Amino acid sequence: MSKISKSAARERIEALSQELRRHNYNYYVLNAPVISDFEFDLKMQELQALEAMFPELVRPDSPTQVVGSDIAPAPEEKVRLEARQAKGPATDQAATTPAPAPATEATQAPAKHTGFEQITHRYPMLSLGNTYSREDMLAFCNKIEAENGGALDYSCEMKFDGVAICLTYVNGRLTQAVTRGDGVKGDNVLANVLTIKSIPQLLKPGDWPSEFEIRGEIFMPYEAFDSLNAEKEEIGEQPFANPRNAAAGSLKLQSSEQVAQRGLDCVLYHMLGENLPFATHSDAIKAAAAWGLPTSPLSEVRRGAQAVVDYIDYWDTRRKALPYATDGVVIKINDLQLQKRLGFTAKSPRWATAYKFKPEQALTPLLSIDYQIGRTGALTPVANLEPVPLSGTIVKRASLHNKDQMDLLDIRIGDWVYVEKGGEIIPKITAVELKKRPANAARPDFPTLCPDCGTPLVRDEDEARHYCPNRTGCPTQIKASFVHFASRDAMDILAGEATIDQLFNLGLIRRLSDLYTLSKEQLMALEGWQEKSCENFLASLERSKSVPFERVIYAVGIRHVGKTTAKTLAKAFPDIDRLSEATADELSQTEDIGPIVAASIAEWFCNADNLRLIEELRQHGLQMQSLAREQLSNALEGKSIVVSGVFSISREDMKGLIEAHGGTATGSVSGKTSYLLAGDKPGDAKVKKATQLGVEIIDEDTFFKMIGR
Ligand code: IVH
Repeated sequence: MSKISKSAARERIEALSQELRRHNYNYYVLNAPVISDFEFDLKMQELQALEAMFPELVRPDSPTQVVGSDIAPAPEEKVRLEARQAKGPATDQAATTPAPAPATEATQAPAKHTGFEQITHRYPMLSLGNTYSREDMLAFCNKIEAENGGALDYSCEMKFDGVAICLTYVNGRLTQAVTRGDGVKGDNVLANVLTIKSIPQLLKPGDWPSEFEIRGEIFMPYEAFDSLNAEKEEIGEQPFANPRNAAAGSLKLQSSEQVAQRGLDCVLYHMLGENLPFATHSDAIKAAAAWGLPTSPLSEVRRGAQAVVDYIDYWDTRRKALPYATDGVVIKINDLQLQKRLGFTAKSPRWATAYKFKPEQALTPLLSIDYQIGRTGALTPVANLEPVPLSGTIVKRASLHNKDQMDLLDIRIGDWVYVEKGGEIIPKITAVELKKRPANAARPDFPTLCPDCGTPLVRDEDEARHYCPNRTGCPTQIKASFVHFASRDAMDILAGEATIDQLFNLGLIRRLSDLYTLSKEQLMALEGWQEKSCENFLASLERSKSVPFERVIYAVGIRHVGKTTAKTLAKAFPDIDRLSEATADELSQTEDIGPIVAASIAEWFCNADNLRLIEELRQHGLQMQSLAREQLSNALEGKSIVVSGVFSISREDMKGLIEAHGGTATGSVSGKTSYLLAGDKPGDAKVKKATQLGVEIIDEDTFFKMIGR
């Protein structure tokens, strides 16, 4: 860094600190970062370099000294929180685990915050030093080796890109699952963590210590991330920018049932406790795996600096084939005695560091911007780029999300833009190269009218997106609502985009109910239709009449109502009449339905045209009431049944049957469970627990006999 005066450095330090605090807030609290990790790290490095030049300017609350916090401070609380963080989570000390925080009455009293109990970490939850340079990694190893008598063993591990979690097991049972929070205290999200299949509530028999903590990362595999975002897009909600944000957002949901649907996973990589009986970190993790805890099969112990760099080189490209996001490699001194001697700085351990992979970026000119209207009327700006190779594909288009994002980037047509592909399928523009801005670069004209039907666009106050409000007259929206209605998870009608286009363009369908009026003669007269395809299509329409009520609710396309919400509604409101009469207030009393969703549902049912549609669909014989609510018998009255494994019908339907026969379907086996209803491949933990507690295990046939089916 070139020479800089002290007063200029002070100003820059202040500006960078403020900026980094804001980015920390966007990342940890809002789960919506506006710059890439790489850009963040560059700014952090600049701040570190300035502070190294002028150590007297280092403030205790500098972002270089404190870890980012995922706790959302109330505005008036923010100042106090920052002051508390300024004390730093740990003092400079020598221990293999950070010194336990002193337990004062104030710190031990659990406080309610954003719906979760706040718990003070027994050992502060620190961060890791990081670098993007292999030379730095070599230097890190060489320095420690020079000071400690030669080549050392390192545990080389993937750096999982998720949310840090601290699990506590007491007598083999999971008692607490706490987020990093501000490093000193975090939120207890135990109920949500218990829905993650790979995390055992009870450890396998073994010689586990009576109490220990194990830390790791909760992440969302790409597959779960893609389907969550697809659903979000479908219901007109802003998709998550990447799997990490999706994992963080999911973990803090108020409803564990919803969390269970999110497909989260976990890997654990750091054990802590008093007098743990292990000589090395890898032994501790091996033991954890033997007790049934999820650990990474990709970790390896390697000797010497060069072997560490070889591990990095090996995974640099191969990691792209992993089913989850990783953003680097973590290396840890394997010897726990040596870890103890090396100790911690205020922010991170001296016995570990991270090498971060640079995200692949491409720099390319922005040719134009298209504005696309989706099914729910949301407008998405899409950038058309000069085609450029990136991570094995040629990128031509990238999402610009919304107007706020465009303003933030201050993007102009003709600009050279940086494109990145993270975990997400659609590449995104992360920055504009201002040095290459052409003189004639033009500010884009954000449309005020729907590009499809010309209706003035509206913007909801609380959302960043613009919408075309012409739901019933905008051709794109109408056609998209047919595609959604016919989709597999909705009515499962054999009609894709091309068929809908054809039927719509010929004027054969305008309203969803028109589908049920189509005749074989009409269809046979159309281009490309044969007898067989007509019959299949009509048969699928017939079948759709027995699709359960919850799927009908989903199919009609109420904004913000995805599959999960539709299910919740069908449970809470046994038929369409009760649902359509519910006020926004009543709806928001329903568990998992927030005020925005409630208002959207109530508004939908206030519209005369929608009510007419419901009537027409009812006339055509679609399901307008919950079957599960129908009381079929009292055969299972007072019985609490846990369902596990694969059955001839879906698990949801099985639970519906339990309830229809007077029983209760519960999630986990306890002393109060009457039966474990086990299908094919039931969960090991559930079977074991039922056996331990003497809970009767029954199969599908026995169950069907019990309910006289
Ligand atoms: S060890 C004392 N190992 O990366 C710090 N952390 O950027 C112990 N992370 O805070 C952390 N994969 O949330 C460790 N294999 C791994 C990791 C890992 C991901 C996270 C963790 C950490 C952050 C630092």
